[in-house]
Amino acid sequence: MREISGKTKILGVIGNPIEHTLSPVIHNTLCELMGIDAVYIPIKVENSVVEAVKGLADSGVYGLNVTVPFKQDVMSALSSVDEDAAEIGAVNTLVRSNGGYKGYNTDAPGIMRALETKGIEVSGRKAIVIGAGGAARAVCVGLMKNGASEIYLINRDVEKAKKIAEEVPIVKALSLPEYKKIPTDHYLMFQCTSVGLKPEDGLVINDDTFYIMADYGYDLIYNPAETPFIKKMDELGIKHDNGLSMLLYQGIIAFEMWFGVKVPRKISDTVYAELCKKLYGDNIVLVGYMGSGKTSVGKEIAKMRGMSFIDLDDYIEKKEGRSIREIFEFESEEYFRNLETKTIKSLFKLSNTVISTGGGSVLRKENRDNLRKLGEIVYLKADVDTLVDRLKGDESRPLLQAESEEELRKRISSMLESRNPYYEIFADQVVYTDRLTPFEIAEIIE
Ligand code: ATR
Repeated sequence: MREISGKTKILGVIGNPIEHTLSPVIHNTLCELMGIDAVYIPIKVENSVVEAVKGLADSGVYGLNVTVPFKQDVMSALSSVDEDAAEIGAVNTLVRSNGGYKGYNTDAPGIMRALETKGIEVSGRKAIVIGAGGAARAVCVGLMKNGASEIYLINRDVEKAKKIAEEVPIVKALSLPEYKKIPTDHYLMFQCTSVGLKPEDGLVINDDTFYIMADYGYDLIYNPAETPFIKKMDELGIKHDNGLSMLLYQGIIAFEMWFGVKVPRKISDTVYAELCKKLYGDNIVLVGYMGSGKTSVGKEIAKMRGMSFIDLDDYIEKKEGRSIREIFEFESEEYFRNLETKTIKSLFKLSNTVISTGGGSVLRKENRDNLRKLGEIVYLKADVDTLVDRLKGDESRPLLQAESEEELRKRISSMLESRNPYYEIFADQVVYTDRLTPFEIAEIIE
């Protein structure tokens, strides 16, 4: 727990309702990792937002975020409004200025930074935006400012789309059925409607020939993680991401403005992992070398906590209808690793489950990123002697077929040496398993 003193700066987010905001996760994690003496709290504004902001300014509150329903109304309480925010017509970040606050909008730069970190170039690109609410407007302004050449904006109520087109010159407004008029091309596609929030929701446009025009798809919804739009992108093999990265970067940009710092990529990745955990991940992911006890310990933890259990290797074997040994023999290690990556990615929606991973799964960054989204990572560490004891005579592990115990020991040693750093850096918790029973190890984790 960080110490709060008279010097600690106060930050917060104003909105109503505010109970489910994730912004405190972003900013309190950032304060801690960046070594900044500040705390961030949610503030529910019940009456006038103008009065509330004046009071907060007078109380010396150092910086604020603004969320629904105050992003427009707050403007009249500010000493000035940034030009881009005025263009978007909404403010989400307040920075101290002249005894009051200046208002900014970090939503549009937030999504642009999210795209940039994924290596998605916007300049010169054409885009399709579905929806014409506040989020769609921010996306259109962001795209234009970053050099996009053309935007087709589709909305159920075409008048709202036309209004955005009046303000953002590269936008062409279309009604829903007019999507068929969009020329076949490669587009960046943004899903900015509220469709997908409810479990019974389907796609706004039900036509694969439309979605196939996307070579990158972004759904601004992040809860649930997998909307019908995201599922469609996945099914069509189109790269995609959900709005959690926009949420992250709108927060990071606000933080950078408050403190005049640059948040390094490594820290933003950690904050992202924290957000994923908070939102999606109440699972436990066990990593470690073959024979470290991931399966037996996993089953014990699941029993102890009333969780489900899956063993990734078993899961792949069942899905493939053959053993891992056979996959290695008749295909290749590369083929298996690709299967493993695809399987890990598909576990996104898993909840309350202990997941035992294959020993090599943490070697790929993509796997580490996706495993982190699932929940707490626990490394079951064992020394070479323990592993040799547990693994000798086991013929089911293709990478460990050795002529003698000595050769087995050598192989394990060298594999451990190369993999250990991955396991250690990646894990939230390292548990030493030597000379302990699975039950004892499960109790330590508990
Ligand atoms: P935000 O400010 O977060 O963007 P919003 O202003 O409520 O949210 O915008 C919601 C968007 O989802 C709008 O584009 C809305 O379309 P309309 O402008 O025609 O209302 C769109 N939307 C909501 N429900 C929809 C549905 N069932 N089918 C198609 N579009 C829908």
